[in-house]
Amino acid sequence: MLDLTGKKALVTGIANNRSIAWGIAQQLHKAGANIGITYLPDEKGKMEKKVAELVEPLNPSLFLPCNVQNEEQVKSTFETIHQKWGNLDILIHCLAFANKDDLSGDFSQTSRTGFQTALDVSTYSLIQLAGAAKPLMTQGGSVVTLSYLGAIRAIPNYNVMGVAKAGLEASVRYLAAELGPSQIRVNAISAGPIRTLASSAVGGILDMIHHVEKVAPLRRTVTQIEVGNTAAFLCSDLASGITGQVLYVDAGYEIMGM
Ligand SMILES: NC(=O)c1ccc[n+]([C@@H]2O[C@H](COP(=O)([O-])OP(=O)(O)OC[C@H]3O[C@@H](n4cnc5c(N)ncnc54)[C@H](O)[C@@H]3O)[C@@H](O)[C@H]2O)c1
Repeated sequence: MLDLTGKKALVTGIANNRSIAWGIAQQLHKAGANIGITYLPDEKGKMEKKVAELVEPLNPSLFLPCNVQNEEQVKSTFETIHQKWGNLDILIHCLAFANKDDLSGDFSQTSRTGFQTALDVSTYSLIQLAGAAKPLMTQGGSVVTLSYLGAIRAIPNYNVMGVAKAGLEASVRYLAAELGPSQIRVNAISAGPIRTLASSAVGGILDMIHHVEKVAPLRRTVTQIEVGNTAAFLCSDLASGITGQVLYVDAGYEIMGM
């Protein structure tokens, strides 16, 4: 029943084979979606090469550079989607960034520029990409973003990223309210801690993972593929009545009081 055949899906946020976005892209592809990929370009073209090799088995019909802090690149990404695909069905927002200095130590010492960077890349980008996708989602659509428990609880070292994720979850609700009449659904997946490039910047991430393995009802943390399965579900007709929600894919950790 989970069939995404013919759906055009743009996946952002693949950096390597540990990326949550990579787990999502694989599961969307498995469900039949036509995949477009964006990557964060660097001067030497290293990321482009690495991501291109990784995603080759998915046969992406679009492969585009898109730094969300670069208005021109975002504009050009959606112009290309318009030209090559005509419309868009699925947008996966799976990216975040904060300076390493702001992901450990005292939250009260967060710098203004660190705050602006974290919120710009990790929160505003959802609003920006959903706004650009809206006119292309002419047959309805599904937007999925990635959040973390630090949005609603104080997690050691997560600091400014917790504020960014709180803003992200609020943005999910506002976007869902605005885009619902166009049959565009907007949801977040709050994933348990997974070892990735981004999470390695958070102080004590391994301790967080070990703690979850001890305490979560399923006595483990989750995989990128499990998050990918949930994203595929949220993008499918099976989730046609779900919008504005934060769905926990965290082996149940969120329900525990101790
Ligand atoms: N790993 C975890 O434990 C965990 C848990 C819950 C939520 N998340 C969220 O999942 C998402 C994906 O992170 P991940 O853990 O897979 O790490 P990751 O490092 O693999 O992915 C982060 C991505 O963000 C991209 N990015 C950073 N700045 C960008 C910019 N300016 N423009 C475009 N792209 C940019 C990077 O290129 C990278 O592909 C993030 O939103 C993260 O907060 C991660």
